[in-house]
Amino acid sequence: MSKDRLVLKAIRREPTERRPLWIMRQAGRYLPEYRELRKIYSFKALSGSAELSTKVTLLPLKRYPLDAAIIFADIMSPLPALGINFDFDPGPVIENPIRDQAGVDALTPLDLEKLAPEVIEALKQTRAAIPEETSLLGFCGAPWTLAAYLVEGRGVKDFPTLRAFAATQPEALSMLLAKLSEAMATYLINQAHAGADAVQVFDSWAGLLSLGNWERLIRPHLQKMLETVGEAGIPRILFLQNAPHLMEAYSSLPAEVLAVDWRVDIADVQARHENRAVQGNIDPAILLHGAASTRAAAKDLLQRVNPKGHIVNLGHGILPKTPLESVDALVDVVHNEKY
Ligand code: CP3
Repeated sequence: MSKDRLVLKAIRREPTERRPLWIMRQAGRYLPEYRELRKIYSFKALSGSAELSTKVTLLPLKRYPLDAAIIFADIMSPLPALGINFDFDPGPVIENPIRDQAGVDALTPLDLEKLAPEVIEALKQTRAAIPEETSLLGFCGAPWTLAAYLVEGRGVKDFPTLRAFAATQPEALSMLLAKLSEAMATYLINQAHAGADAVQVFDSWAGLLSLGNWERLIRPHLQKMLETVGEAGIPRILFLQNAPHLMEAYSSLPAEVLAVDWRVDIADVQARHENRAVQGNIDPAILLHGAASTRAAAKDLLQRVNPKGHIVNLGHGILPKTPLESVDALVDVVHNEKY
């Protein structure tokens, strides 16, 4: 029964027999079977087909007893519904970057039929294939993180074009973020209807602006999106990356779970926000060093963080060169904790 899904119990801050564990980017390149599939298919082909996406989503669960499946797709997947074309090399590359009001105006009205139907179908197929006690997670990119790629054109260190756009064309930015916010709220609700138990909002590039500019330019749109999803009754996991100066601001947003990277003291976040669950936050770099280092980092995390409402994860996506033994060690520590 869904009430026994550990991730959902932790989201509600109910007692659990052990802490739940899943791993950001758990279906990625550290898995040899994923690399084999990538010899045959491009990332776009894998994530663009419901059957292949389901197959890849299930790969990490075949190897490890993880408590959640996260659909194999990308934050860009729903953007064709706004008339946006892109490719991957290896990160997203946008065909026509948005650099002015005309670029925003050129977006199409939300085309519901193109709102990643392959992801919606993959959610249904995955739900039918995973154990009853495993949670199914949907996700999307936060409006600002999506805008980062759309304006910059691709992932570039510190996103200077985006920051200049925000400083000089705040009204165009606001219209862009409003469109993304509305589209992503609809997308997340569709994912929940297709079987997602909870959704994670990835704000990977949250930290690029000052607190004042974030409050003024970005918060209203992120808040609106989260509120719309919350009104639909869907549990929300909000992940921010590289934004310690915004931690308090994010803590006031409507989300059941605050998911943080390794720069943040997660025990402190937990202590200061007693009504929230927390997720994270082992530094993925530590896993590169092997099982013993991973084991030590995992034990240290469990010792510092109260198990009530703690979902164990890394502080960002697992790195492609991570040895499989490190993941075994992480699973072992979490599964054998006594409390
Ligand atoms: O977590 C999972 O296993 C689900 C799948 C998933 C992918 N991307 C698959 C992917 C998720 C949740 C994402 C989200 C995503 N995509 C984010 C937010 C999370 C984060 O990492 O900060 C961002 C910023 C992107 C944009 C993106 N897509 C980048 C930067 C890259 C390339 C480099 C990289 O980090 O892997 C991609 C391509 C991509 N998305 C790959 C995968 C497995 C690599 C594809 C490959 O070359 O095989």
